[in-house]
Amino acid sequence: MIVNTELEQKGNMFPSKFVSFKKDVDTLYFSTDNNVVLQLTVFRDSVLRFRYTTTGTFDNDFSYAITKYASKGYNHLEIIENEEEYHIITSKLLCKIAKEDLRIRIYDVKDNTLINEDEIGFHWEESYEYGGNIVKMSKTINDRESYFGLGDKPEHLNLKGKRFENWVTDSYAFGKQTDPIYKAIPFFTGLHHNKAYGIFFDNTFRTYFDFGQERRNVTSFWAQGGEMNYYFIYGPKMNDVVENYTDLTGKPHQLPPLWALGFHQCKWSYYPEANVKEITNKFRELQIPCDAIYLDIDYMDGFRCFTWNKDYFPDPKRMVKELLDDGFKTVAIIDPGIKIDHEYSVFKEALEKDYFCKRADGPYMKGKVWPGECYFPDFTKPEVRDWWSGLFKELVEDIGVQGVWNDMNEPAVMEVPNKTFPDDVRHDYDGNRCSHRKAHNIYGMQMARATYHGMKKFNYPKRPFVITRAAYSGTQRYTSTWTGDNVATWEHLSIANIQAQRMAMSGFSFAGSDIGGFAEQPQGELYTRWIQLGVFHPFCRVHSSGDHGDQEPWAFDDDVTDIVRKFIELRYQLLPYLYTAFWKLIEHGTPLLQSLVLFDQEDQQTHYRTDEFVYGNQILVCPIQEPNAKGRRMYIPRGSWYNFWTDEYVEGGKEKWVDAEIDSMPMFIKEGAIIPKFPVQQYVGEIEIEELALEVYYKLGKEVSELYDDAHDGYDYTKGRYSFRTFKLTGKANELIIQQHKEGKYEASYKTFKLNIHGLPFEIKEIQIDNEIISLEHLKVNGTVSMVIDKKFSEIHLIGN
Ligand code: GLC
Repeated sequence: MIVNTELEQKGNMFPSKFVSFKKDVDTLYFSTDNNVVLQLTVFRDSVLRFRYTTTGTFDNDFSYAITKYASKGYNHLEIIENEEEYHIITSKLLCKIAKEDLRIRIYDVKDNTLINEDEIGFHWEESYEYGGNIVKMSKTINDRESYFGLGDKPEHLNLKGKRFENWVTDSYAFGKQTDPIYKAIPFFTGLHHNKAYGIFFDNTFRTYFDFGQERRNVTSFWAQGGEMNYYFIYGPKMNDVVENYTDLTGKPHQLPPLWALGFHQCKWSYYPEANVKEITNKFRELQIPCDAIYLDIDYMDGFRCFTWNKDYFPDPKRMVKELLDDGFKTVAIIDPGIKIDHEYSVFKEALEKDYFCKRADGPYMKGKVWPGECYFPDFTKPEVRDWWSGLFKELVEDIGVQGVWNDMNEPAVMEVPNKTFPDDVRHDYDGNRCSHRKAHNIYGMQMARATYHGMKKFNYPKRPFVITRAAYSGTQRYTSTWTGDNVATWEHLSIANIQAQRMAMSGFSFAGSDIGGFAEQPQGELYTRWIQLGVFHPFCRVHSSGDHGDQEPWAFDDDVTDIVRKFIELRYQLLPYLYTAFWKLIEHGTPLLQSLVLFDQEDQQTHYRTDEFVYGNQILVCPIQEPNAKGRRMYIPRGSWYNFWTDEYVEGGKEKWVDAEIDSMPMFIKEGAIIPKFPVQQYVGEIEIEELALEVYYKLGKEVSELYDDAHDGYDYTKGRYSFRTFKLTGKANELIIQQHKEGKYEASYKTFKLNIHGLPFEIKEIQIDNEIISLEHLKVNGTVSMVIDKKFSEIHLIGN
C-alpha cells in the first residue's frame, strides 16, 4: 500500500563534485558525481558552446538554428588542470571551470578582463508534469553592464533591468510592454568595460531572460524543457559578436533581387483585379516609385491556400504579367491553415499522405483561422516541407508570382485562449519526435523555409523573395520579415524604429514595419514621418488592415503625397548604397542598421540611445517621432558629419538640435564617405542606368567606401559576375585623392561617374586623373563641385592653391 502520496518537490538541483574529464578533439567533457556532464566545444577561438545533461548522456544533437555553413576551427587550444580548476585557453579566451561545482568564468586572454561569470551557473528543476528538466543558468552582472538584442522586443533598446519571454505569439495591436510577440530570438549581447560578448541560448522551448529585474546583480536565462545549450561569443566589438552570431545561425542564402529593396504597397486587401490595377496605375500616374504590390487573403477562393477567387481574379496569369510589364512584382500571401474541405485538392492530398499535425491521443490538430476550421501541415517533417515547396509550382512558375508572404505561422489559432496549438500536439522535428512545447517556436520558421525552397526552385533563374511573420534564430537565412500588426500611433512609430534596429543586432536585418500602422488610421503627418523612417528600413512596405481607410501615398493631401514621393525617390537613389550593405551582410554578417551602441560602443553616451541609428555604415538618421515638430534634439555620434540637406559640417560627440520641418528629417553623412546614387526610377530596371552619381564628402584624413553591383537578379554574381569597388579617400589641406580598386567580372551599364564633391575647403587649380592633367572646363561649381569621369579611373587628384 502506498502511504505517502505527496509530491516530493526537490526544488533547484546543482552539479555536484567533478569526477572526470575527457577530451575528444575540440570537445571536452566534465562529469560530476551526480551525472551532470558539461560538454564544452571550442567552435572558434572566440566561440564556445556549453551543453549540459543531468543524466550522464546527451540527446541527439540537432538544431534548426545553427547553419551547416557556420565557420568552425580555432588557432590555439590549451588545457591546463590544477587543484581547483580547468583552464581552457584559445587565442582569444581563457575559460576557467571550477571542479567544485562546474562554475564558469570567461576572460579576455589578452588582458585578463573578466568578461562573463556564472553566478549559480547551471542548475535545474525536474519537470513533474512533462518529464525532463526546467534548465536554468545564472550569471553575475558586471559593473555598468548593458544588454541588447532578443529580436523584436518592443522595449527600450537597452534590456537592462527587464525580463522577457520567448514564445512566438500572434499579437494584434501589441504595445510597448507586450511580451512575447511574434519572434523568438534567444540571443543577446552584453557590454561592459568596452567589451562585448553574446549568448545564444539555442533552446526552442519557451525560454526566459532576466537582465537584473529579479535580482539587481544577476542575469539569468531558463527554459521549460530541453537542454541547457548555449553559445558564448566574444567580440570584444559588438559588431564582431553580431557577425559571429550571424555566421553561426546563417546569413541570407542569397542576395534579394534588387526590386525587393524597392518600395512595396500592401493592404488587406486589394481586390478585385480592377482595384489592384487602379492602385498600380495611380503610382505610375503620380510618379511615385513602387516595385511590389501585395495580394492579401481575399485573392483566394474561400481562403484556401493555392487557389484563386475567379470572380475577383478571372485570369491571374494575365494580370500578373500585365503588372510585371508595368514594373510591379506580385507578392501573394500563403498561410499555414488548410481548410477542412474534402473537395479541396491540397487538403485531400495532405490528408491522404498523413501530413497534418495530430494531437497526442490521435485526432488531427483542428483550429480556426481565416478559412474556418483547418488542419495544419507538420512543417517539421522533411517530406512535408518538400510537398509544400512543390505546391508553389503553379503560383510561381505558371502564374508568375514573384514573392510569397507567410503569415499566421506562429501558428495562430483563433478563438482559443492561448492563440495557438495546445502543448500536446505532436511534431516530427526532423526525426526527433516531440510535442508542441518544443516545436512551437520553430513552426513558422520551418514553414518559411519550405516556402523559400519552393519559391527558389520555381522562380529560378531569378532569386526568391519570401517574407514571414513568425521566426526563430536562423530564419534570416530564408526570408525577410515584418514586425506584425502594429497600430497607427506615434508610439508605434518609435516602436518600429527600435524593432528594426533590434532585429539588425539580432542577426535578422531584412526587416521592416507596416508603415503607417496596420490597425487604425494615421493622420497625414504621422504617415509622412513614418515613411521618412521606413525608407531607411531594409524592408520598406506600407500595409494596413484596410478597415479604417486608405493608406496609399495619395490618401491624405497633396503635400503628403509630394513629401512621400520625395522620400521614396531618395530610397531609390540610395539603392546602390543599400545593395552594397546587403552584400556585406551576406558576405560577413554585417548588420544593415547600426544602433549607436553598435556604431561606437566606446562612447558610453550611446548605451542608452534608442532613436538615432546608422543606415549601412555612413548615413546617420533620426526619425521625428512627435507631432508638430520642427526638428528635434538628437545625439550625433563621435566623428564629424555633414548635414545631408544643407551640407553643414557638424562635430559629433554631443547632443544637438536639428531642424526638420515636415518635408525633412535629420540625416547626416559621415565625413569622407562616398555615397553612390542611382537616378530616380519608377521601379528597379525601368531605365538603363547611364551614369552613377558619387556623392563625395571631403574629410581631412582618410575614409574607405564601397560599391557593390551585379545584374540585380539571378545567380551570375555567385560565379564572379559582380563588381566590388573600393574607394579610398584621402583629404589634405589643399588636395583630395580618391583611389579606386575594382574586383569581379561584372560590367555595369553606366560608363561614367558623376562626382559631386561636398565640403571641399579649397578652390580647384588642377585635376589629375590617372596622372593626366585634365582641363578644368568640365568642372561645374555651384555650391558643390561636380564633374563627370570615366568609371574606370584608378586615381584622381584634386589640387588646390
Ligand atoms: C494578419 C497579418 C496582416 C494581414 C492579415 C490578413 O493580421 O498580420 O498583415 O493583413 O492577417 O491576412
